[in-house]
Amino acid sequence: MGIFRRLKFWYTADRIGPDIPLTHWMLHFKAMMRFLCTHRFDNFGEQSEFRPYAFAVACSNIRIGSRVVIRPGSFLITEPKDCGTGITIEDDVLMGNNVHIYTANHNFDRIDIPIIDQGHYQSRGVVLKKGCWIGANSVILPGVTIGQNCVVGAGSVVTKSFSNNCVVAGNPARMIRSIPSTTNKPEIKETAESAVISCAVLQAHSRA
Ligand SMILES: CC(C)(COP(=O)(O)OP(=O)(O)OC[C@H]1O[C@@H](n2cnc3c(N)ncnc32)[C@H](O)[C@@H]1OP(=O)(O)O)[C@@H](O)C(=O)NCCC(=O)NCCS
Repeated sequence: MGIFRRLKFWYTADRIGPDIPLTHWMLHFKAMMRFLCTHRFDNFGEQSEFRPYAFAVACSNIRIGSRVVIRPGSFLITEPKDCGTGITIEDDVLMGNNVHIYTANHNFDRIDIPIIDQGHYQSRGVVLKKGCWIGANSVILPGVTIGQNCVVGAGSVVTKSFSNNCVVAGNPARMIRSIPSTTNKPEIKETAESAVISCAVLQAHSRA
C-alpha cells in the first residue's frame, strides 16, 4: 500500500489502537482521547477512558457507557453494524487489563477449503451489563451477556451468558457462587486506617 493510501486508511479507519499511529497518540491526552472516542464509538459515556495500547475494531458498532475504563492490552473486536449488534458495555463496568471481547467466529464447516477462505458465521453481540467486573486476561466469546454486578474471575474464558449478581471463573467459566442481596449484610464501618489504604489502592488502580 502506498504511503498516501496508508495515511488515508489510518485517518478514516473505524478502529483505534497502536496499529493506527495517526490517532493512537491522542489516547495519551485526556481531552484528545475523549474527542477521538466520542467521534469513533457509537456511544462513549461521561468519565469513560480508552487507554493507550488498547484496541477497538469496528468502533461504530461499539457502545461504551459512563465511568468505564478500557485498559491497556484489551481488545474489543466486532464487525460493522450491518453484520450484527456489536459490543455494548454499560455504565460502571469495571475491566482489568487484557480483556478480549469477540463477536464472530470464522466459519469452519468445510474441510476442502482453508478456514481463512470460508468467511465468518453470523456475528453475535456481546453485552456487559451495568456494574459488572471483568477480571484481567479474560476472554468473552460471541453471543455472551454478563449480568448486572457479575464478577468474572481473572483469566476466565466465558462461553455462555450469566444472569445478574454471580461470580463466575475458569475455562470454560462456571458459576462459583451468587452474590447475596446486601440488605442482610452487616454494615461495614470504615476506620481511618482502612480509608487511607483503600484510597491509596484506588489511586494506584486509576493510574494502571
Ligand atoms: C473471582 C475473584 C474475584 C474471587 O472471588 P471469590 O468469590 O472471593 O472466590 P474465592 O477466592 O473464594 O474462590 C472460590 C473458588 O473459585 C476459584 N477461583 C477464584 N478465582 C478464580 C479464577 N480467576 N479462575 C479460576 N478459578 C478461580 C478458587 O480457586 C476457589 O476454588 P475452590 O473452591 O475449588 O477452592 C478473584 O479470584 C479474581 O479472579 N479476581 C480478579 C482480579 C483481577 O483481575 N483484577 C484486575 C484489576 S480490575
